[in-house]
Amino acid sequence: MSDTTANSKRILVGVTGASGAPYAVAFLRRQLGDVYLALSNWGRMVMLEETGLQEDDLRPLVQKIFSDKDLANPFSSGSNTFDAMVIIPCSLTTMAKIASGIGDTLITRSAIVALKERRRLVMVVREAPWPTTAFENAARLSRDGVIVIPASPPFYHSPGTLDELVEQFVDKVVGVLGFEPRKKWREDAL
Ligand SMILES: Cc1cc2nc3c(=O)[nH]c(=O)nc-3n(C[C@H](O)[C@H](O)[C@H](O)COP(=O)(O)O)c2cc1C
Repeated sequence: MSDTTANSKRILVGVTGASGAPYAVAFLRRQLGDVYLALSNWGRMVMLEETGLQEDDLRPLVQKIFSDKDLANPFSSGSNTFDAMVIIPCSLTTMAKIASGIGDTLITRSAIVALKERRRLVMVVREAPWPTTAFENAARLSRDGVIVIPASPPFYHSPGTLDELVEQFVDKVVGVLGFEPRKKWREDAL
C-alpha cells in the first residue's frame, strides 16, 4: 500500500556496499511510485550482513530488480526516463565513480544519465570519517545538482527504537524526493 500522494513517479533505487542497508529496506517499504532496484555486488553482501535479507526478499517491494552488470538496461540510456534516482546507501567508491564520470555498472551509468539529463539524483552517502576526496567528490556532485545526504539520522523526534530512527532518517530522503514525510518537526505549531 502506498502512503504517498505522488505515487506515479518512476524511481530508480541503487543499493551499494556502504553500511546502511536498513535505510534501503525502509525506503523500499514506503512503496513510493514505480520503483526499480539494482544492487551492487557489495550492496547485496552488506544487505545480507545488516538485515539478513537477500535480493529475492526485496522483489515483492519493487516493480523489477535489475542486474548491476546490465549496461544494456533501458535505464542505461537517457531515452528511458525516470523521475528520480536514489542511491541508498551510497559508498564512497560509487560516489567517486559518478563524480569522475565513470559509468561501468548500471547504478553508476544510470546516475550519469541522471546528471546529463538533469534529473533528480539523491545519494545517501555513508562513511566515517571522510577522506578529503569524499568532500571533493560530494562538492562536485552537489554543484551538479545532486542532493548529497550524509547517512546521519536525526534524534530530535526522540526515536524509541532503531526502526523509528531509521524511519525518521528515511523521512528526510522521501522529503527531498517530493513525497510527504511521515513526521514533521512541530507540525502542530503551524
Ligand atoms: C560490511 C561492509 C561495510 C562497508 N561499509 C562501507 C561504508 O560504510 N562506506 C563505504 O564507502 N564503503 C563501505 N564498504 C566498502 C565497500 O563495500 C567497497 O568499497 C565496495 O567496493 C563498494 O562498491 P560498490 O559501491 O560498487 O558497492 C563496506 C564493506 C563491507 C564488507
